[in-house]
Amino acid sequence: MSEPLRIAIAGLGTVGAGIVKIVQQHGALLAARAGRSVEIVAISARSRTKDRGVDLAAYAWEDDPVALARRDDVDLLIEVMGGEDGPAKACVETALQNGKHVVTANKAMLAIHGQEMAIQAERAGVALRYEAAVAGGIPIVKALTEGLAANGITRVMGVMNGTCNYILTVMEETGASYNDVLKDAQDLGYAEADPAADVGGFDAAHKLSLLAATAFGAQVRFDNVVIEGIERITLADIENAADMGYRIKLLGVARMAQDGLEQRMQPCLVPAASPLGQLEGVSNMVVVEGDHVGQTVYQGPGAGEGPTASAVMADVVDIARGLVMPVFGQPADTLARPNASSAGSDARYYLRFSLSDQPGVLAELASILGRHDVSINRMRQYDHDGQAAPLVIVTHATGRPALDLALAEISALSACLAAPVALRIES
Ligand code: NAP
Ligand code: HSE
Repeated sequence: MSEPLRIAIAGLGTVGAGIVKIVQQHGALLAARAGRSVEIVAISARSRTKDRGVDLAAYAWEDDPVALARRDDVDLLIEVMGGEDGPAKACVETALQNGKHVVTANKAMLAIHGQEMAIQAERAGVALRYEAAVAGGIPIVKALTEGLAANGITRVMGVMNGTCNYILTVMEETGASYNDVLKDAQDLGYAEADPAADVGGFDAAHKLSLLAATAFGAQVRFDNVVIEGIERITLADIENAADMGYRIKLLGVARMAQDGLEQRMQPCLVPAASPLGQLEGVSNMVVVEGDHVGQTVYQGPGAGEGPTASAVMADVVDIARGLVMPVFGQPADTLARPNASSAGSDARYYLRFSLSDQPGVLAELASILGRHDVSINRMRQYDHDGQAAPLVIVTHATGRPALDLALAEISALSACLAAPVALRIES
């Protein structure tokens, strides 16, 4: 058997501790599959004394993750600290400069710095892998870069944030409040250090930008993703959607349109009976369409200790086997830099308004929609809830730019008591 692969782990939180458990529990299995043993040499985190539920006594300790990345006795750095800049970026760059392979779960960092890091890794002839950064335990990067390598990809879509799917489905199931369910997701280790990244849609948008780059041979352009979070979704929206046969999902879509790359991450209504509609809890689902293969679907746990550590270690095993591939499926200096698509396709929309209960308000609202060519398909006004009269409208297919103009005009009405909620209906 060849020399052991010597690894260092920067970050010993939910994911880092999970990685240590796998290496300690599955040492023989990893060695058999990789053809060489995988040994943890050194570790780093903020606190040296915190109990992490694993025995760390055998590993060298570094207070500074950059010093960890420089160690001569390390072949591969695993970065699972998080943060788009700061020590995570510093230690990854140091590792690459020192000719060490890197495996990271850090989508925030790669969504911003992925292109320059890919160039750095490829010039150094080392691997930079990120399976765990996208859709937790689902091997979606491997599917795109290997299993589907013979296809032109036409569309990638899916649910890519476990915390949001957990919140939306548990609220529906139990009627529990948004804040209580978010707290559960944090306790279960699903949420980001700042959960605003989850519920604001940014975490899922980071993931979508990485998948889009890999699928479409493009540089990562997180700045081109249209992002909306789930913060304004209420239990009433979830129930209204259910009444109409839909469920609300934070859904990402990336596709190459005629005028550029469309990337959007938004809460949408999807048919309750569809595979996406049936996705429960922390699960993620990614749908990839290729020109020869057709549609392929991947489902699994999108967050948490075990699934994420599993994805990290799959990358480590590949590197131990000697597999060093371009970071985004083709050499980074050949990746295109497409514009953001401006139009987006037409769709039906679910609209919820909070209106003051006065004569003429509904007529005024309908007339604004009409002037912008937004046609009403269904409408329901609920009883005054003590503060406002909630009105729900489902439109016929319309373009988002026209709808946004209409909504801006409606928002300016004195009778409109809160910013309207507009959710795309994905068929
Ligand atoms: P976490 O539980 O908050 O752990 C972060 C770890 O990094 C902690 O051990 C912390 O040390 C250490 N750390 C933070 N700042 C540091 C610094 N300046 N110097 C040294 N160590 C530092 O986070 P996590 O959930 O494991 O997530 C880690 C990464 O994986 C993030 O990029 C996240 O986006 C990604 N990820 C997470 C999941 C998930 O389900 N949790 C899934 C996919 C990807 P202390 O413990 O001493 O404070
Ligand atoms: N916070 C992320 C989620 C972790 O909930 O999906 C997995 O990337």
